[in-house]
Amino acid sequence: MGKVALAAKITHVPSMYLSELEGPRKGTRQDAIDGHIEIGRRCRELGVDTIVVFDTHWLVNASYHVNCAPQFAGNYTSNELPHFISNMEFAFPGNAELGQLLAKVAAEHGVDTLAHPATSLAPEYGTLVPMRYMNADRHFKVVSVSALCTVHYLDDSARLGWAMRKAVEEHYDGTVAFLASGSLSHRFAQNGLAPEYAFKIWSPFLEALDHEVVEIWKRGDWKTFCGMLPEYAAKGHGEGFMHDTAMLLGALGWSAYDGRADVVTPYFGASGTGQINAVFPVTPQDGHAVPKAVASRADGYSTVATRLCSGRGPAAARHAPPRHPLQRQSRRAQRHVGAVPQPRRHDARAARRGWCAGVPARRHARAGLPGSALRDQRRR
Ligand SMILES: [Fe+2]
Repeated sequence: MGKVALAAKITHVPSMYLSELEGPRKGTRQDAIDGHIEIGRRCRELGVDTIVVFDTHWLVNASYHVNCAPQFAGNYTSNELPHFISNMEFAFPGNAELGQLLAKVAAEHGVDTLAHPATSLAPEYGTLVPMRYMNADRHFKVVSVSALCTVHYLDDSARLGWAMRKAVEEHYDGTVAFLASGSLSHRFAQNGLAPEYAFKIWSPFLEALDHEVVEIWKRGDWKTFCGMLPEYAAKGHGEGFMHDTAMLLGALGWSAYDGRADVVTPYFGASGTGQINAVFPVTPQDGHAVPKAVASRADGYSTVATRLCSGRGPAAARHAPPRHPLQRQSRRAQRHVGAVPQPRRHDARAARRGWCAGVPARRHARAGLPGSALRDQRRR
């Protein structure tokens, strides 16, 4: 039925607004603004009627939420950076029908998502800034999705993105764009150093990491990127823990995605953070690689690291908390935390790995000896 015609990862740095105003920052973000205008132009060309923004400035502490009021209008000042965005007027139409549909289908996919079609809640600047440049003439309807998810699984965000694509393709009569509105690395300059880092990245490590990520996107190595996303989100100080990126990749088919990033605004630094505008061509996908929902089948406590990486794949194994080899766990719990086989006492294979006869591996490690060497020592 419907179509997702465009997907993109976009910047929303508030210095874009400063770039419009008279003063020392005037014109300094014109490249980012031009990138937004270009993405807006492509959306028009593709017949997009509604832009759905995964907004890393909308903080939520439970469930996912969709702001789909019929109309948005107001005067916005950022509570984070009121000296950057102050009294910024906004007005554009919403799409209550699509917003409710997105939430309904996400819930059907096991991701608890609530639509808000009759709310006084205004969008955050992760939505407002791009709409200022892409949608100045109010041509597009806009739906905003919460993507600063404090206690959520990245896998659920990926599933949410896929579910939203299916909602459009199977139930919506129209054409939609999905925008992941958030940065790459997101470590702001230490207080007092903001002017010095206005156009720079906070550290060489983060800058190198971001550049490598952009290269991975450009060559389309999505298996590598999806595998490293939880660790990238943690070590790269990911904006919104990079849930916007997980949603976007979910919509594109996750690790099975076969497109390559088309960089519209090259990577740049802003107050220490790494930014970009990049379009990801939407390719046919069957969704087989998209992670399954996690929270709706969770069976108890898990660590933050495990929550971020969901307990599957190599990244999960690296993040999984250390466990006593004899610790008993349900099969379900094993699936959640990397499914390390649980060896039995006197298991020969286990003994070769460094523990035996109920002696925990860490005691062997403390002695600096493998299991067999410890046995020999005891015999002596
Ligand atoms: Fe931001």
